[in-house]
Amino acid sequence: LKKEGLLAEGKAKAVYATTSPEIVWLEHKDEATALNGKRKVRIEDKGHYTNQISGYLFRYLKERGIPSHYVKTVSARASLVKKLTMIPVEVVIRNVTAGHFTTRFAQAPMQPLTPPVQEFYLKADELDDPMINDSQLVALSILTQGQIEAIRQQALRINQLLTDLFADLDIQLLDLKVEFGFTKQNDLVLADELSPDNMRLQDKRNHQSLDKDIFRQKKGDLRLGYAIVLDRLAAKLG
Ligand code: C5P
Repeated sequence: LKKEGLLAEGKAKAVYATTSPEIVWLEHKDEATALNGKRKVRIEDKGHYTNQISGYLFRYLKERGIPSHYVKTVSARASLVKKLTMIPVEVVIRNVTAGHFTTRFAQAPMQPLTPPVQEFYLKADELDDPMINDSQLVALSILTQGQIEAIRQQALRINQLLTDLFADLDIQLLDLKVEFGFTKQNDLVLADELSPDNMRLQDKRNHQSLDKDIFRQKKGDLRLGYAIVLDRLAAKLG
């Protein structure tokens, strides 16, 4: 399969057509953004880390029965994925308090949340991705109640599988964001990326953050955290 014209470009990735109508070429950029794109910095090799980590996590989940858009990793920064109709919703799952959960509800960080909290956000840059609930999603014809249930169930399962995997690597998964889409056959599948750009990870060995909070909070070079995640995944999964 060969890479063809640009189809779409987001803050962290660009999507290109390929010689197959069913497959697109997903290229991870060497760029970090915060504040919905208002802060943007070029970071050499970042795309390599997010692409390689994503590949490990999608393959791990696929082996455990989670269908996704992932096909294969084709280069340092690029993967082939199935072309989907994306659902314009970000699904956040939280195992402990962190980030916006602490500010929105005036909570101390790192308190366990049982069962895990699930939140939906509508993807709309001009609206700053507002939180949206089930009845709003149904009334706006974005999803049916049945699709929402399927997404909730799948998101919890993904959270559990990744929590267990990271625990084996001495890493705690605090929270994560996932996105879903529909295949041509109308199957619901996990999409987008799975990397420290979209999840909070804490090293159990020294309580250091290994994710994009390093960049958001200007605590140093995020590549140091991403490299630890990639190294431990590679050591465990090969
Ligand atoms: O900012 P907040 O605390 O709501 O983030 C929860 C989780 O969702 C974090 O892991 C964050 O990286 C992820 N997230 C994301 N994309 C967004 C918002 C949050 O990946 N637009």
